[in-house]
Amino acid sequence: MLEKLKNVEQDALKALDSVQNEAELETWRVAHLGRSSGLMQIFSQFGSLSKEEKPVAGQRANEVKKSLEAAFGARSEELRQAALKRSLEQEQLDVTLPGRRVPLGRLHPDTQTLRELYSIFGEMGFQVFRSREVETDEYNFQLLNFPIGHPARDMQDTYFVESEGRGENPIVLRTHTSPGQMHAMRWISAMNPENPAPVRIVLPGMCYRYEQVTTRHETQFDQLEGLAVGPGITFSDLKGTLADFARRMFGQNTRTRFRASYFPFTEPSAEFDVECFICGGKGCGVCKGSGWLEIGGCGMVHPIVLRNGGYDPERYSGFAFGLGPQRMAMLRHRIEDIRYFWQNDLRFLEQF
Ligand code: DAH
Repeated sequence: MLEKLKNVEQDALKALDSVQNEAELETWRVAHLGRSSGLMQIFSQFGSLSKEEKPVAGQRANEVKKSLEAAFGARSEELRQAALKRSLEQEQLDVTLPGRRVPLGRLHPDTQTLRELYSIFGEMGFQVFRSREVETDEYNFQLLNFPIGHPARDMQDTYFVESEGRGENPIVLRTHTSPGQMHAMRWISAMNPENPAPVRIVLPGMCYRYEQVTTRHETQFDQLEGLAVGPGITFSDLKGTLADFARRMFGQNTRTRFRASYFPFTEPSAEFDVECFICGGKGCGVCKGSGWLEIGGCGMVHPIVLRNGGYDPERYSGFAFGLGPQRMAMLRHRIEDIRYFWQNDLRFLEQF
């Protein structure tokens, strides 16, 4: 029986040498350590041994079992290491290769223009006031002196969000930032209705109009509204503020002009032009030969609007303006199509 044990051990160890992978190793385990292996058969034959033979053979059989188990463990580890080495060799890393740069984002040209505007008006004492993009007809039009059916509403083709059951006050997407004027005046005047504090704010934000989309018109665009209300504010304050703004934005020698215009919420109203900074006023393709670029609308806040905002027009006056940041960015960078702004095309965005 000792002889048999020796053969079983030798055969098993020899077979183990040629095992090359996990599957073969498992087959080996079943064959040499499993229930029907030669070794286990020997264990089952102990019953027929004499009293003297039994402990010797038993001890030896246990030794063989331990040695085969140890050999199995060692081979298993060898196979694991070999597989690891192969996979490391396959995934070789060349640490001398130059690294890949992480691409840096940048500010959108519209954001750049807006920040410049905030900083210029900030230096003049204007604070930023934000207001909602989804408005009521009342705030977008009625309180700004565009009553129901007023022809000036035709200038601002409107997206209606909800009319059902709202009578004459449907929900709209704001067509301009001017309703923010009313929110701001009401909010500030409510704090001290007898003597409301003066207002000096700029109101940036998206506006929406049901427009035919062209190179110059989009259904979504932004505006920067300005509003100053206080005792004794005059049209010269408006002119001075916008002329100063133009010099800071477009250069110290930039000339400006005001042309009479009409908006329901201002009286008098004007269109505000700056001398073309591309040709210096001589006339070029950008200003279409006129020498002037239209930058926005402005005027003295209408008494009805002041009263709606909680400011007594006998004691207070104010000016307002509305600028187009995208239009300024387009003029500056000679961007010829407004549709580039929100297309998120990196070929466009990377130029700024
Ligand atoms: N809300 C006007 C528009 O979108 C722009 C505008 C004109 C705003 C004159 C003003 C203003 O505050 O005084 O067409």
